[in-house]
This record gives sequence, structure tokens and C-alpha cells, in this order.
Amino acid sequence: MRLLTHRYLALFAMSLCLCLMGCEVRDVPNYMVAPQINHMAFSKAQESQGIMYSPEFNPTMVDRDKVDGGIIKLAHGNGRTLLLPPEGTIPRGFQPLHYPVNEAVAKKMGKVDDKGKADLVAVATAQALKAGDELVNPFKPDDETMTRGKEVFNTFCAPCHGKTGAGDGLVAKRGVGMPGYPLTTKGAKPHDYKDGHIFHIISYGRGNMGSYASQINAADRWKAILWLRKLQSTQGAK
Ligand code: HEC
Repeated sequence: MRLLTHRYLALFAMSLCLCLMGCEVRDVPNYMVAPQINHMAFSKAQESQGIMYSPEFNPTMVDRDKVDGGIIKLAHGNGRTLLLPPEGTIPRGFQPLHYPVNEAVAKKMGKVDDKGKADLVAVATAQALKAGDELVNPFKPDDETMTRGKEVFNTFCAPCHGKTGAGDGLVAKRGVGMPGYPLTTKGAKPHDYKDGHIFHIISYGRGNMGSYASQINAADRWKAILWLRKLQSTQGAK
């Protein structure tokens, strides 16, 4: 019993301390935990003009010659921490894809109505067909590509299209405004799409299906298509 009382007393004292720490009882600033967080200057690296280590907090980090009122201008001349890449350069490992769907392309293709409104669905379809004609799947079905393709398909496509591609994924089943789009069942349209066409759909998205370009790298997209072909051959798409 006595032990319990002591515990309550200790608890009460602790709470009181915390309360007092949180209360503003004087006009001087209260005790501050981790002041760096409050005084740090944030920036968007490629837009900002000069950044931003307060020597007060990390004196080892700065070149003191460049200290300017507590703010360091880093050395890229224009004061940027990161430079924009020169025009036309491509990040390492990034594979560009040249079938964009946007208003400029719509204008070029003449896919605009009388009021100048772009028909982006028509552009997407035209670009996907073009990709289908021009792009070839660089992979052949083998143990490695099929294993990986299945993994990618089950992770990224099955939630909507179902593990067998029958259009019965969980998202479709739960009826959250996403009708099931069968990819593999009898009469399913994608059976007639070329690999490059499906590659375009995965890369740029279509209608309610978003782009998966940032989640799935190009090689994995091609491998998922190989797995999809296998599903089609066993699900009787024809
Ligand atoms: C969030 C749900 C969702 C995911 C995940 C998803 N899709 Fe789709 N997919 C759709 C919807 C919805 C459509 C119909 C789009 C439209 O035309 O409006 C579609 C359409 C398609 C089509 C064209 C179907 C047709 O009849 O023309 C293909 C091919 C396709 N998806 C392949 C894939 C592949 C491959 C993946 C995995 C990389 C994938 N999808 C992931 C929702 C999804």
C-alpha cells in the first residue's frame, strides 16, 4: 500500500514538472529542447539562393570565409546547393521513353476539338499503338524473367487485375469505383495488344490506372508483360 502511494506521488511530481515546463509563466522564452530543429533553415535545393548551415550549431561543417550573417552561401556561384542538370542529359540508369501524352502532343497530332481542347484519351491510344509497333520486349521467357515477372505482376497489378489477370483483384472486388479490367480471360482486349502497347499503358497509365513508371523499372515492366502473356496462354484469352 505504502509503495503504491509513493508511486502515485512520484507520478504526480513528474506530471507537475512536465506541466510547468509546458506553461508560459514568465515573459522569457521557455526551455527549448533541440533548438536546431526550431532554427533550421529549410530550402528546396534546386530553387534556393544560398544555404544554410548555422555555424553556431555545426561549426565544423562550414567554410568560415563564406559566413554571411550566420548563413553560408555554398559555392555554386549562384548560391545553389544543387545545380540543375544541363539540358538534354539523362540520369544514369534512367531509360527515357518517347511517347508522352500531353496537350502539346495533342496539338501536334491534331487531336483537339473546335474549342482547342485536347483529346488526351485519343493521344494516349495513338501513342500506345505507336509504342506497340516500335518497341520490342528485350527479354525472353526463362526461369529468371518469369520468376521476376510473376513477382512484379503479383505486387503491382494483381491488386486490381487479380493474380490470374481475370479482373478480380481486391480493389475491383471491394467495388471502390474501380471496375475489374480483365487482362487474360476469354475475349480480353490486351490479348491483341503488342508488348510495347502494354508497356506504354504501364509506363504512362490509362484512365483510372495510374502510371507505374516510378515504381517499376523498365526491365521489370517488360518481365511483368512476359508473365502476363503466360497467364493469357493458360487463361484462354483467345
Ligand atoms: C489501381 C488499380 C490498377 C492497377 C494496380 C493496375 N491496373 Fe491496369 N487497369 C486499371 C484500370 C481501371 C484500367 C482501365 C483503364 C481505362 O481504360 O480507363 C486498366 C487497364 C489496363 C490495361 C488495358 C486493358 C484494356 O482492356 O484495354 C492493361 C493492359 C493493364 N491495365 C495492365 C496492367 C498491368 C500490367 C499492371 C501492373 C503493372 C496494372 N495494369 C496495374 C487498374 C489498374
